[in-house]
Amino acid sequence: MLRFLLPWMLTLCLAFTWASATRRAPLAMRISCGARQNVHTKQTGTLWYKDYAYTGGIPANATVPSSITPPLQTLRYFPLSEGPQNCYNIHRVPKGHYNVRIFFGIFGQAGAATEPLFDISIEGTQIYSLKSGWTNEDDQSFSSAQVFLTGGSVSICFHSTGHGDPAILSIEILQIDDNAYNFGPQFGQGIILRTVKRLSCGFGQSKFDKDYGGDPWGGDRFWHHIRSFGQDSDHPISVETRIKQASLGPNFYPGTLYRSALVSTDALSDLSYTLDVDPNRNYSIWLHFAEIDSSVGVGQRVFDIIANGDVVFEDVDIVKLSGDSYTALVLNTTVPVNGRTLTLTLSPKEGHAIINAIEVFEIIMAESKTLSDEVSALQTLKKRLGLPPRFGWNGDPCVPQQHPWSGADCQLDKSSSKWVIDGLDLNNQGLKGFLPNDISKLRHLQILNLSGNSIHGAIPSSLGTITSLQKLDMSFNFFNGSIPESIGELTSLRILNLNGNSLSGRVPAALGGRLLHRASFNFTDNTGLCGIPGLPSCGHHLSAGAKIGIGLAACFGFLILVTCLMCCWRRRQNILRAQQIAARAAPYAKARTNSSRDVQMTRHYSYGNARTAAESGPILHS
Ligand SMILES: *[C@@H]1O[C@H](CO)[C@@H](O)[C@H](O)[C@H]1NC(C)=O
Ligand SMILES: *[C@@H]1O[C@H](CO)[C@@H](O)[C@H](O)[C@H]1NC(C)=O
Ligand SMILES: *[C@@H]1O[C@H](CO)[C@@H](O)[C@H](O)[C@H]1NC(C)=O
Ligand SMILES: *[C@@H]1O[C@H](CO)[C@@H](O)[C@H](O)[C@H]1NC(C)=O
Ligand SMILES: *[C@@H]1O[C@H](CO)[C@@H](O)[C@H](O)[C@H]1NC(C)=O
Ligand SMILES: *[C@@H]1O[C@H](CO)[C@@H](O)[C@H](O)[C@H]1NC(C)=O
Repeated sequence: MLRFLLPWMLTLCLAFTWASATRRAPLAMRISCGARQNVHTKQTGTLWYKDYAYTGGIPANATVPSSITPPLQTLRYFPLSEGPQNCYNIHRVPKGHYNVRIFFGIFGQAGAATEPLFDISIEGTQIYSLKSGWTNEDDQSFSSAQVFLTGGSVSICFHSTGHGDPAILSIEILQIDDNAYNFGPQFGQGIILRTVKRLSCGFGQSKFDKDYGGDPWGGDRFWHHIRSFGQDSDHPISVETRIKQASLGPNFYPGTLYRSALVSTDALSDLSYTLDVDPNRNYSIWLHFAEIDSSVGVGQRVFDIIANGDVVFEDVDIVKLSGDSYTALVLNTTVPVNGRTLTLTLSPKEGHAIINAIEVFEIIMAESKTLSDEVSALQTLKKRLGLPPRFGWNGDPCVPQQHPWSGADCQLDKSSSKWVIDGLDLNNQGLKGFLPNDISKLRHLQILNLSGNSIHGAIPSSLGTITSLQKLDMSFNFFNGSIPESIGELTSLRILNLNGNSLSGRVPAALGGRLLHRASFNFTDNTGLCGIPGLPSCGHHLSAGAKIGIGLAACFGFLILVTCLMCCWRRRQNILRAQQIAARAAPYAKARTNSSRDVQMTRHYSYGNARTAAESGPILHS
């Protein structure tokens, strides 16, 4: 007996390990915003991570806005005083395709609770603007989008729009198949699909994939239940039969979805559904069918599918296309919409129209981001200049394009197809501290206005490497020291305002010449700038310290000169005397002559040395 069983068991084991190896669980990361501890929600046994270490925003107790929001007690909200954009930067997210879902929060006493309206972006791409009335509709209490994440982390930002403080209940990052919802050639890493509507038609209740016992690779979709499209033109039906060909990759639709449907009441009458959409977008539409009436065979139920008046599928015969009754059929198409509504119509040619489920996605092109060097330069500036929190420089400086950082002007650099900063205007913002050298990483800057702040210290000479600079306004600060020579190398510079600082010393000569070319430079109200037309010449305006220094150097030089002359004169006297002695005492003549030549050589040597030293003045000091 065992002999027969063993191979079977082995095969089973192998099959099992193979299956579990290829079908590992998808990555799922869930965050309960504002929670002090990790949360286990009871019904589903789901783990939600706390976000208590997160420093932005304010945690608060949540009022649950709808019956389908996760049963979490806390939320996090972002008052405008913390800046117009606030982000969660979530790290250690492996490269992959994810369903990112954000449930919104409301807080305050029930009744008095207000409904905040704000914008949401993922990795710099705006995916959603909350619509007023969202608290009244279950499927409006969250936003969900399928996104490719490739950078190892994800930045999810909330942008204030002046309608209350953004408040977030939860963030879910659920891995799905790389090929999920592949709608055709355009599909790929630069594409985000935001869920606009996901309807389960017919009998039943609104459900998540999980409630349907669906595969976790489905991304735990929410299926909003709809019992009728209205106008008494349809009725729900349902069966308990198992559905074939559902629950398959890459989308893993729960089979239960296909057990209920809406059917048109009259033969040959249309079944029509209209939803409100944002205009001028492309929408990806996924329609789900299964023939759940066993009496209907091939050719007995045939219909066209029409989207906003255009036939998108002709002569759809479910049994024929899916191969059998009780078998799932999914059709997808992409529809550009100019107006504010999208109407889907099933127009029967034979029998009654039927539909089991509808999914509508907005196709969003992912934004490219800002050059990372420039982002880090701005972050350094933010830190060093003590940028006030109300600036809210979080997320990406240039995208979403609807919400750039205040003060930063952006331009898309065609060669790198990245955003770059071409203007920075931070005038009169109460900035203090020092201007960091890193400013030069903003190498596409054309305009820099730091006027009217309290910035101290030297003007970084690295500014001279930003060759695109046309307007540089650093007036009315506390800059001191001299103007770096490198500023003279900014050949595009047309406006240079350095007035109202504590600058001194010689203005780079290259700037003087520029004045002739109708550039506008202002150097007034400084401690002591000199050297170009319109300013005092440098010689007459030495500081007291410099005058004392020069005086001392002159005295010192004079003393040395006198000392040298004295030495020379003495030596000369000595030599003359020695020669007189030698002439008188013949026996020593040879030796003395040698000695005198030595002395002369020494004298020449010392003379030469003194001359070199006098010529190159500063060496005297060292
Ligand atoms: C939130 O609720 C907890 C208990 O449910 C309570 O102890 C706490 O004071 C509440 N916090 C606020 C800010 O209302
Ligand atoms: C969706 O439709 C496109 C073309 O319209 C097709 O290439 C693609 O395979 C379809 N996707 C699925 C999953 O059926
Ligand atoms: C819609 O898709 C078409 C064809 O792919 C494209 O040319 C167009 O720019 C898209 N429109 C929008 C608003 O994305
Ligand atoms: C910088 O900002 C100040 C204050 O708004 C303005 O007066 C000045 O013209 C600006 N400078 C430049 C170069 O635009
Ligand atoms: C400029 O000011 C800073 C302090 O603000 C000071 O440390 C530095 O010595 C000053 N430099 C010059 C050249 O005066
Ligand atoms: C230069 O700045 C001063 C203020 O510091 C101002 O009074 C003057 O009009 C400016 N000169 C020019 C030419 O703009």
